[in-house]
Formats: sequence, C-alpha cells, structure tokens
Amino acid sequence: MKLTILGLGYIGLPTAAMFANRGYDVLGIDIDEEKVDEINRGHFRIEEPGLKAFLRDAKNSGNFKVSTKMEDSDVFIITVPTPLKENKAPDLSYVESAAEMISKTLKKDNLVVLESTVPPGTTIETVIPILEKSGLKSIDDFKVAYCPERVMPGKILKELTENDRIIGGIDEESRQRAKKLYSSFVEGKLYLTNPTTAEFVKLAENTYRDVNIALANEFAKLCEKHPTSVWDVVKLANNHPRVYLHKPGPGVGGHCLPIDPWFLVDEDAELIPTSRKINDEMVDHVIKLIEKHAPEGQIAVLGASYKANTEDTRSSPTLQLLKKLHDRKVKVHDPYVSEYDSNLDSVIEGTEAIVLMVDHKEYNDIDPRILSKKMKGNIIIDTKNCLEEKEWTEAGFKYVLLGSNKHD
Ligand SMILES: NC(=O)c1ccc[n+]([C@@H]2O[C@H](COP(=O)([O-])OP(=O)(O)OC[C@H]3O[C@@H](n4cnc5c(N)ncnc54)[C@H](O)[C@@H]3O)[C@@H](O)[C@H]2O)c1
Repeated sequence: MKLTILGLGYIGLPTAAMFANRGYDVLGIDIDEEKVDEINRGHFRIEEPGLKAFLRDAKNSGNFKVSTKMEDSDVFIITVPTPLKENKAPDLSYVESAAEMISKTLKKDNLVVLESTVPPGTTIETVIPILEKSGLKSIDDFKVAYCPERVMPGKILKELTENDRIIGGIDEESRQRAKKLYSSFVEGKLYLTNPTTAEFVKLAENTYRDVNIALANEFAKLCEKHPTSVWDVVKLANNHPRVYLHKPGPGVGGHCLPIDPWFLVDEDAELIPTSRKINDEMVDHVIKLIEKHAPEGQIAVLGASYKANTEDTRSSPTLQLLKKLHDRKVKVHDPYVSEYDSNLDSVIEGTEAIVLMVDHKEYNDIDPRILSKKMKGNIIIDTKNCLEEKEWTEAGFKYVLLGSNKHD
C-alpha cells in the first residue's frame, strides 16, 4: 500500500516514519526544499525522544522516501500547519494548497485523511470541494476522513501508538478504511464518527484545557488578595470526586492551546475568548509582581520554552515577557533552548531578582545558598510553584509565589 504524507513537521514526520516502520511504502512530501534535503541527509529539526533512531529505522527499511514532488498513491494524509491570522481567524491556506496538490494526482478508490487541526466543517466545506476539482466524486470515487492528532511534544512516539483516536469518515467505508489504516500502529481505542464531530471533538478537548487553566489563573489572582495559596486551593478542591482544576501559571504557550480555541469562536462565543484573554494577560500579572517586588535592577529569567523539559518556544509566555520587559535589563537561562545561556551562574551574576517561568527538572536541584552569593538582590518570583519556600527563605531570599499570599 502506497501512502503519501503532506507536511513533515512535528506531526507528519513521526507519523510517516511510523507507517514506514509498519511496512507501508511511504512518501513524505514537504514544500520546504531545505527541510526535505535535511531529512534526506538524516538531519531533523525536531528534538523528540527516540525520533532519530526511529527515523533511521524507517529510512533503513527502504520504505521511506522524502521529496517535494507528488506521486500517485493509495492514501494521502495531510499534516500541514493551521495557524491563526493576525485577526485570530484560522489560516487554512496550507490545508487548501495540500488539497490542491492531492487533487492533481487523485485516483479512483484513493483515501484522503486530514489530520491538521481545523475549524468545524473544514473537511466537508473546504477540503472535499478542492479534491473534487480532480473530476472525481467523494464517496462514489474516493474516500475521505478527518482523524485529528492528539499527541504531546516530548512523548510523540509513545502517544502516537498509545492514545485513543477519533476517526471521522464521510461514509461507513471511509470510516472502516481509515480505521484499518490507523489499526496498523494504534494500540488505543478507535472511535468512529462523522468528520465535523471529529473536528469539533479535537477543538473541544483543547478549549476545555484552556478554559480550565483560565479559571485556575483567575483563582490565582484572587488568592493573592487573601492569606491563602491557589496551589493549596487547587490541590484540596481536586479531592472532590467531580472537580479537576488545572494548574495556574505565567500564561499558556505552545502550538495548540493558544490557537485551537479560536477555531470555535463566532459571535455566540463568550467564555472561550474571555479565557484566552485571561491566559494571555497572565504575563502582565507576572510583570506586576516584578514591578512590586523588584522595581529596579537586572532580572534573571529562568526558562524560555513554553513548557518544562523541552526546547520548543512556540508562543512561550517567556517570549511575551521579554517583549514587554524591553526597558529592563534581562538575562535568560534555559538548559534546553540553544538561543539562551545554559550557564545558570553567569545568568544570575549581579541580578536583583530571579523570575522562574518554566519548571524544567534542572531547577529542582538549584542550591539557593550558592545563588544568593552571586546575586545583587534577593528576590525570587516562582510562577510555577516548583521551588521550596523554606529552603529559599532560609538562604536569605524573599520568596514570591504566583497566586499566593500565604506564609505559614
Ligand atoms: N505539534 C503538535 O504537537 C500537534 C499536536 C496536535 C495537532 N497538531 C496539528 O497538526 C498540524 C501540523 O502541525 P505541526 O506541528 O506538525 O506543524 P509544523 O509546522 O511542524 O509542520 C508542518 C509542515 O508542513 C509543511 N507544509 C506546508 N504546506 C504544505 C503543503 N501544501 N504540502 C506539503 N507540506 C506542506 C511545512 O513546510 C512544515 O514542514 C497542525 O494543524 C497542528 O495544529 C499539532
């Protein structure tokens, strides 16, 4: 079975290798010639545990080819980006161009699967009309399914196989053919539905998480006005059998949560845009904490990626913070992001305050007694609740925890 994947990024490249390692004859297509050359030379821009060896296996199997040029295929899978435009409307131009490319090689009995995250209705209203420019008719001549990807960077290979998947086919045969395709490597359950439901489910999952985090962030700001801590409140409230509050923090980054909820927003949506605003404004709240506790002097920011233990800085709250703190002297430390200094001693040297933005595992091992000797000031602002207050105060620091005004 010949399978073509369009878009060799975080999702497409591991997925292509997965199918190749399961015996499919895979052609990976990307419009970025430099990326295609790099992959052909065995170089991958994505840092993902196990991915290098997995891709090497795929290449060595002889089943995996990468190119910018389309060929005939039995199955086409679209894994291209779906960013937001300036005005927060979805940019479907990559999905449209991928569908155009497929329409030029589409043959009778082909299966086309869209994996990119898209607004409800995209498969039916946007993708199928472009595919039908081929002269073939969906359902009668070719099959289509929407199968969203739910993996998390850092665990992509594990989650590709272990996660349950939603399969939204345009008819029963589309569903069954897509189910058979994913059964070749998915160990989780495969749930069958229609494409628009599958599109909505993917967006509902990420919107639920974003709204839940916004609630935790609102609680954090309110808790700071009382002798309590949002971290205790969340932990204790989550003992209730029907409560599952997420954790607050300095904002929400990454390629999914700051973007996907907007795909659902129309004139009837109120909670979703409000939650987005609350999460985006958490960086301003961190700045208020800095202005209150360290109004002058140099600042050391710890962590630049959007989440712990990764090099991915897409929509990272730290990048927003740096933009907004342009009039302050700021040094940034990150053990994973190569653009920033990975030497903690040199970053904190002479600074007034430390602002911890990411709970990288390395930060658990910091000895505050050593840092206090190198710093000019003694302020530590912990936005992730990953440091021990007692240890830092005993080392002479003024410990400020986002979402907390509790000191007992
Ligand atoms: N990254 C994740 O963890 C994740 C998780 C779930 C869902 N998604 C969704 O999956 C989709 C892909 O995301 P990603 O992170 O892999 O994107 P990415 O930016 O890492 O990679 C996309 C690739 O597609 C290529 N491309 C663009 N137009 C093309 C075309 N017409 N033909 C062939 N290649 C083309 C780009 O050059 C790029 O290499 C998005 O819709 C995203 O929202 C991503």
